[in-house]
Amino acid sequence: MSALDIEFVKALAREAGDRALTMLSAMQPEYKADGSYVTHIDRQTEELIRERIAERYPDHSFQGEEYGRFGDPSRPLWCVDPIDGTTNMVYGLTHWCVSIGLIEGGEAAGGAVYIPNTNEMYWAVRGEGAYCNGVRLAPPDRTAIHGEDTLGMTSSSVKTLNPWVLEGRIRCIGSIAIEFVYTAHGRLCSHVGCHEGINDLAASLCICTEAGCVVEYLDGSEFSIQDMVARGKTRGHFVVAPPEFARVLRSRLKVTQTGSAA
Ligand code: IPD
Ligand code: CA
Ligand code: CA
Repeated sequence: MSALDIEFVKALAREAGDRALTMLSAMQPEYKADGSYVTHIDRQTEELIRERIAERYPDHSFQGEEYGRFGDPSRPLWCVDPIDGTTNMVYGLTHWCVSIGLIEGGEAAGGAVYIPNTNEMYWAVRGEGAYCNGVRLAPPDRTAIHGEDTLGMTSSSVKTLNPWVLEGRIRCIGSIAIEFVYTAHGRLCSHVGCHEGINDLAASLCICTEAGCVVEYLDGSEFSIQDMVARGKTRGHFVVAPPEFARVLRSRLKVTQTGSAA
């Protein structure tokens, strides 16, 4: 039986996210070695989450975006992005979230994504469905793209694929975890990303698959969580969507630019 206590995870994501909201006025952004932003909010939020999980699950392992991995890698692994959407947070945009997911037996066992600015709690447990604020998620599927369909793409995917061939409205929200849960919700009809981390996605992968979505690489290679844990991130461009719509996007999108446009 899974070790996951989803009520504990939801309460922790809410505590961490609501505390982060109170810290915004003192925010001091700095650049990391890779050129991306980090703030004291990212660091202190990860410390809070790591301490709480260590108290509740002392024999589990943990990895977070800011401080890396702790514990025995053969044990269930908590993958945490304390703030996903830090650039949005730095610029005063409201789409950022706390993401806490559990990988157990090589599978995404469940987790929570909390968006403090909209007071929305997304969660899932493997085999038990996906929810937003208590409402079960089941996005509609489509066999063609309508001009008003919302098509999510990360910034780097827009720069490296051919989005101009797609009907529909391209949306770039700036937090991969929110883009995933919005796809699970049907707010985005689909989302396309590239080289995204297991810490960002551990929770929202389970939320999407429990809502009935698939995650598939554009080149047709197998999408595996074990591979993501081993590499730390996805292999290349992928689409998350309900199954038929994912097939449509895979047939239309092509890589036009190699390299790692941010
Ligand atoms: C980033 C955001 C962004 C995605 C990047 C991530 P961060 O995470 O999710 O939308 O495209 O690849 O690294 O730095 O805000 O935690
Ligand atoms: Ca992230
Ligand atoms: Ca982050």
